[in-house]
Amino acid sequence: MIALNLRNEFIFPPIKLGYSDTTGTIKQQHLDFYDLRSKHIGAITIEPLYMDSGLREIPTQIGIDNDNKLYRLKKLINLIHANGAQVIAHLNHPGRLANPKIPGNYFWSSTDKPCENGGAVPEYMNRDMMDKVIDLFVDSAQRVVEAGFDIIELQFGHGYLLAQFLSPDVNKRNDDYGGSYKDRIRFPLKVLSAVRNAVDIPIIARISGDEIIPTGFHIDEMIKFSKILEENGVDAIHVSAGSACSTPPWFFQHMFVPKGKTWYYACRIKKSIDIPIIFVGRINSSKDIKSIKRIYNVDYIAVGRAMIADPNFVGKYLNKVKGLIRPCLACAEGCLGGVKSGQGLQCLVNPKVGKEIDIFEKPKKSKNFAVVGGGLAGMEAALTLKKRGHKVTLFEKDELGGQFNFAPLTPNKKSMKTLIPYFVKKIKVNNIKVIYKEAKKSDLINKYDEVVIATGSKPAEIKIDGLDKFYWAEILLKENLPKNKKVLIIGGGLIGVDIATALIPLNNQVIIIKRTTDFGEDMEMIAKLLSLKMMKEKGTIFRNYTHVKKIVGKTVYAEKDGKDIQFNNIDMIVISTGMKSFNPLEKELKNNILVHVIGDAKKTGNAQDAIHNGYKLAISL
Ligand SMILES: Cc1cc2nc3c(=O)[nH]c(=O)nc-3n(C[C@H](O)[C@H](O)[C@H](O)COP(=O)(O)O)c2cc1C
Ligand code: SF4
Repeated sequence: MIALNLRNEFIFPPIKLGYSDTTGTIKQQHLDFYDLRSKHIGAITIEPLYMDSGLREIPTQIGIDNDNKLYRLKKLINLIHANGAQVIAHLNHPGRLANPKIPGNYFWSSTDKPCENGGAVPEYMNRDMMDKVIDLFVDSAQRVVEAGFDIIELQFGHGYLLAQFLSPDVNKRNDDYGGSYKDRIRFPLKVLSAVRNAVDIPIIARISGDEIIPTGFHIDEMIKFSKILEENGVDAIHVSAGSACSTPPWFFQHMFVPKGKTWYYACRIKKSIDIPIIFVGRINSSKDIKSIKRIYNVDYIAVGRAMIADPNFVGKYLNKVKGLIRPCLACAEGCLGGVKSGQGLQCLVNPKVGKEIDIFEKPKKSKNFAVVGGGLAGMEAALTLKKRGHKVTLFEKDELGGQFNFAPLTPNKKSMKTLIPYFVKKIKVNNIKVIYKEAKKSDLINKYDEVVIATGSKPAEIKIDGLDKFYWAEILLKENLPKNKKVLIIGGGLIGVDIATALIPLNNQVIIIKRTTDFGEDMEMIAKLLSLKMMKEKGTIFRNYTHVKKIVGKTVYAEKDGKDIQFNNIDMIVISTGMKSFNPLEKELKNNILVHVIGDAKKTGNAQDAIHNGYKLAISL
């Protein structure tokens, strides 16, 4: 066994950033991203490096497919080494999960069946193709060493090529490379053995402890496999879960899946072998670190999104950097959402991700600002203005956090409850004065130099004959939540779907209607998929292209596709037809004082839009 020898137990896991272009070369954005995150951590895994340009998962991935890439890879490695961290190269062959939308990609697999959730029809691999894949891994591994990486991580999990051989769900071959467990592990072990013979740096195997697919592989088989990996020269095992094809919420450790399952898999494997185990999966607070250390006696801890949300997460945990940890919500909204949309990795809570340097200069003159509205946009603006050296007073008529206070009230979004306490504490620590009252013109004019309006939005008004009593998101408050009722939700976007997911577990029958189609259209991809799946399974009635005409007693009369329909015995109505900017102050103040409008008050959007917008304005003032 070769020891990893990191300066501490923390590792940044492989996360696609999407900051390159179609040439796959390293850009300044990569250097900035990893520079900031390598100051205190033990090792950084660079995003998965494509070994062949025909094997890309995203068009903007970085590659290690030819020697021309070495110059910039070395530059990146030197930068991370200068910060004291080791550098891990993650090598993955996606097999049938190469991106079908990228021209020139090819798809080889243990099977000729595509991934059922989209994907190209793969070519069934013969022996010759297997040899080519082995050569590709060896070539790339040698280049990894030449570039100066300290460690190689080989991907055996997450539904990628080697897992396509390991998985009984995918691999139905009846040759020497499929069928029994002994035959399914044969090709992955050949790859390992070839790489082991080719390089003398430590090798980490990344595995899924369980595919979370009934007919896939499970922990007992993975314990057996881990022992074999150990016997065949692997130096550490990194235990994740799921498959990018069938169970992506587990792969990405999304807030909708329970925290700690991956830790359990890692612990089971740790008990059976001697080489170090890397724990991963939503380890995103000091409390998590302390408890997994206490319970599992961990060797190594991978922290991914926690280091995206706060690049100093490890530094702060180790008391080397002062300050509160900006919490990761496990929402995948900005990070996965940014990569999937082609914008590149972003973060809901951290507007600097992707543009890591504090690009703002100190203002020429410190001004006295009033920020009106203590929602996410207002709080972020207030904090950033203060950081830049301005004087700031924050006005809030209710409680800080605004509408985001409703987000953690839905059953799957409990992880969001850490964000507002963070902002509130940060405002206190930064001595920002908060005045709890509705700011009037007289409170602002002649008292401040400029005003930032962040008064948010209100539910869009809706006129329906007979609609007298209805709820909006406040139905989520404990005292309002119904049980055993028939509830009609008018509006099927993010708020409507979120409310439905809170009502269904309380045995309410939910009908959800939308004027157009695509329920949950504005939702983060995984949250949308899992919410709609659960709603369908629990018998929710969906009616698209439907609008309500009138309500008489408990009967709701509506029109769908030009035909009259009705919903009977409705106990409660929820309106979630969208939001409208709320900004009465701007007109009143405009000719008297300089005003800036941000967040929902300017244009309605989601939490990420609010925080980013508040930040963007504040760095410009
Ligand atoms: C945007 C994004 C991209 C990722 N890409 C990969 C990948 O290409 N390969 C991989 O093995 N894991 C990938 N992961 C999974 C991470 O390595 C890690 O296992 C996961 O984020 C859970 O750890 P965390 O909760 O500390 O973030 C990705 C995660 C995110 C959020
Ligand atoms: S976007 Fe959400 S999940 Fe991703 S790093 Fe930021 S807070 Fe965490």
